[in-house]
Amino acid sequence: MVNQPWWRNAVIYQVYVRSFADGNGDGAGDLFGLLDHLEYIASLGVDGIWLNPCYPSPQMDHGYDVSDYFDIEPAYGDLEIFDHLMMRANKLGLRILMDVVPNHCSDQHAWFTEAVAAGRGSRERERFWFREGQGVDGELPPNNWKAVFGGGAWSRITEPDGSPGQWYLHTFTPWQPDFNWLNEDVVDYFDRMLRFWFDRGVDGFRVDAVTVVGKHPDLPNAPDTPAGMTEMAAWASNPYTLFWPSAHDIWRHWREVIDQYERDNPIRELVTVAEAYTPGRPDLLLKFVEPDQFHQSFTFDLLLSPWNAQSFHKTAAKSYRSLHASGSSITWALNNHDVHRVVTRYGRTDAHLTSSWTGNNLVNSDASVDLEMGHRRARAAALLILGLPGAVYLYMGEELGLPEVLDIPDSARQDPIFARTEGREKGRDGCRVPMPWTSGSANLNGFSTSTSVEAWMPQPAGWGEMSVEVQEQLGDSMLNLYRQALQLRPRLVDEGKDIEFVGDGADGLFSFTRGSCAVIVNTSADFVEIPATLTDNRSVILESVQGATTNRDGSKLLAGNTAVWLG
Ligand code: BGC
Repeated sequence: MVNQPWWRNAVIYQVYVRSFADGNGDGAGDLFGLLDHLEYIASLGVDGIWLNPCYPSPQMDHGYDVSDYFDIEPAYGDLEIFDHLMMRANKLGLRILMDVVPNHCSDQHAWFTEAVAAGRGSRERERFWFREGQGVDGELPPNNWKAVFGGGAWSRITEPDGSPGQWYLHTFTPWQPDFNWLNEDVVDYFDRMLRFWFDRGVDGFRVDAVTVVGKHPDLPNAPDTPAGMTEMAAWASNPYTLFWPSAHDIWRHWREVIDQYERDNPIRELVTVAEAYTPGRPDLLLKFVEPDQFHQSFTFDLLLSPWNAQSFHKTAAKSYRSLHASGSSITWALNNHDVHRVVTRYGRTDAHLTSSWTGNNLVNSDASVDLEMGHRRARAAALLILGLPGAVYLYMGEELGLPEVLDIPDSARQDPIFARTEGREKGRDGCRVPMPWTSGSANLNGFSTSTSVEAWMPQPAGWGEMSVEVQEQLGDSMLNLYRQALQLRPRLVDEGKDIEFVGDGADGLFSFTRGSCAVIVNTSADFVEIPATLTDNRSVILESVQGATTNRDGSKLLAGNTAVWLG
């Protein structure tokens, strides 16, 4: 087989630093804690780590409001500890990806405070989108754009002389002013930033919110939206920023910077993975992974799909076919720090109904949850995602089968979505609850080095029962299933053959073959016969639960809500 870049089939473990391990005893995760647990990550059998933003930040959106792109958040460590972490990770065979946030920075970033101070018409203001307001005294925002996290997309500043001033654009929250990428200072700044971290050994970047970085330069009003539409839906129907094509010039430029870096440093193989939600539109996704742009883009349609074989066929198979034909590296995830954890999503009593699913199900749903069913399906989903060809991103705690914590008291919620929507949307805190490492509740189930500190986000009762310590002792734990699957995965990957999807899911099976191997997922509640074309000359490599397959009258049956790898 032709030598492929390391990232094409890589499995990357996502670390939400705040929630992974607290090594300095302040109740929030940090790089010291990560360093202490690197062996654990390596023991899973993954190829690398993606670190959510760990740059200095006021943490209004937990690091996605960066105040300095060239340093480490002091509460997490410093550059020295980061360098140490890089070295240790590399020794363990783990690559490190950082997270870059190009759309916006923090309102505490020096450029933004300088822009406010410098006044109208200044070069400093050109780096952002400052505009005069409408109305007699400029008291109305410059246009009708909505923010992703609720409310309007504009906030008004007070000018240095104390008068009510210009407005600035923020796609997310007022604490996250959008950069103006038509400005050369911004372009140069990020060129330097990419090289700065590559020079420290970073192997690539996950690139945040790429679909909103472009903006119509005149910032026209967005078309009116029907009354009653949620803030998020209203925002997503703004054609003057979402998928606005000017962003692609930036990604092409970044690719030149990266390709040049690789030519100058021939042993380096760098990767960028775009965060681009393009529901039902693989054609839009393709635009981000043209050969002169990102190396990868998450294929989120699988994550957005309900637990339904027909839907898996429509989403995974459709995405695969279009991305494969383009030669792009296909990249899957079922979890991340922005969506409800898969155990809970698939545990929702209506999770299997294609028609019942709404985007809300990912972050906000009232449907009742059957956690036992959710776990069973999540085990099967692990074999599904690790069986698919391409790269896979796992989110910390997924390997423990952690559920979404749904009952966080409102007073403890920190996600800006909660406050910005006045509680209408609960937000994403429930998938960011600190990891349980041990079963004892002292030290926050092993999360912290302190015995007296409170976690930045409370852990629910019984959290320690799902800890790493407990699951390491149980042969059939979720953790051991992930370990086994990761160990056996090369058998599928090494096939290097084109994938063939079998059937259309109407029988409840989502199935595909990879050369001599086959992956079969039964999303129905009942036993289903596996077609003989899939079982002939193949035996079981791995089942999502022991005994998932049984032989009856010369056929092989697969139990409801399970999966199997055959080969
Ligand atoms: C990140 C979120 C973040 C937002 C704003 C997203 O796509 O994944 O966690 O809140 O971008 O930066």
